[in-house]
Amino acid sequence: MTPRATDWGLALLVAAGLATGLGTWFAGSPGSAWVVDAHTVGGTALALLLVVKLRRVWPRVAPGARRPPGSGRGLAAVALVLSVVLSGLVWSTAGHVGVAGFSVLVWHAAVGAVLAAAVVAHATLRARRLRAADVARRNFVVGALVAGGALVAWRLQRPLQGLLGLPGAERRFTGSYDAGSFTGNAFPATSWVADRPRPADAGARLHVAGRVRRPLERSAADLDRGDELVATLDCTGGFFSTQRWRGVRLDRLLDEAGVAAGGRHVRVISRTGYRWSFALADAPGLLLATHVGEEPLTHGHGAPCRLVAPGRRGFQWVKWVERIEVHDDPDPGAVASTLWSSFTPAGRGDA
Ligand code: HEM
Repeated sequence: MTPRATDWGLALLVAAGLATGLGTWFAGSPGSAWVVDAHTVGGTALALLLVVKLRRVWPRVAPGARRPPGSGRGLAAVALVLSVVLSGLVWSTAGHVGVAGFSVLVWHAAVGAVLAAAVVAHATLRARRLRAADVARRNFVVGALVAGGALVAWRLQRPLQGLLGLPGAERRFTGSYDAGSFTGNAFPATSWVADRPRPADAGARLHVAGRVRRPLERSAADLDRGDELVATLDCTGGFFSTQRWRGVRLDRLLDEAGVAAGGRHVRVISRTGYRWSFALADAPGLLLATHVGEEPLTHGHGAPCRLVAPGRRGFQWVKWVERIEVHDDPDPGAVASTLWSSFTPAGRGDA
């Protein structure tokens, strides 16, 4: 394979790694498992293509060799790719491992984002156009071998892990590991990104407003209607926990408020300002939970009530819910709210 074809292949695989990696954050139901599979296959192809590249450049960079100018940058890039690939493999093989207070998966995603930014910067400054030789048949043969090898590795990975008794065999299709399923509140309480509000006052009430005919206010006790759901909270930090949740179905609450004509989207808003928006048609599958197991939710898990959104990743399961609003349109600001909510006085715990 020509050097340029190899470098373009590596750059494209890093871009695909970032895209499918971010895609895993939205892969919560088995129907979207293909995104995680595509990430594994692409990541493994990157590792194999890196071997192709290293075989060629090794004589020039090996210890004792007279290194050409610029090889320091190249070696740093190789180290970055290796740390992304190895952290991914450690995670998918060795179980829920943490470093410096964060799971290896979180480090993996962060280093992956740095790698993608480095590749974009490098491509902008120094990309070299492909020539006829770079798209010749031989390159495609090597490309096909790399893709085939990655597919075989992906197919064999779980059976091999099972055979060897490795923790990776027990992970969910999202790559997450079980933490305290069916133990009530005894599973990790994490927050995206760092919301840390004060516990709610005893008299705190949930407001239902927006495009509704009868705006409502409800206490936590009013929300415990006995509606139950067994659902899996799957955190992008790398754990999942299946629990029996209890509270009120969102569509029941909206029926009481009476959705007015035009209302098609429902916003679920936390006391911190954090919010997420759902199509109204999805409301029957969503629950506002006051209890987990038979226990009232603890503050860390979102008391007095949190959203339970089966098939969606944990960051959409809004905690400390204070307002439900019906709107005509989806909510383009929701993504931004997940970043600034930790900086609001309520998000910091100052109000
Ligand atoms: C940008 C370059 C990236 C590359 C080259 C890459 C590569 C890899 C590799 C090789 C694995 C191991 C796959 C396996 O053995 O199953 C992996 C796992 C994983 N990566 Fe990445 N990754 C990148 C970025 C990201 C990002 C940005 C995220 C999240 C936002 C992410 C999320 C994941 C997840 C969830 C797994 C676990 C999958 C599983 O256990 O099956 N990756 N990645």
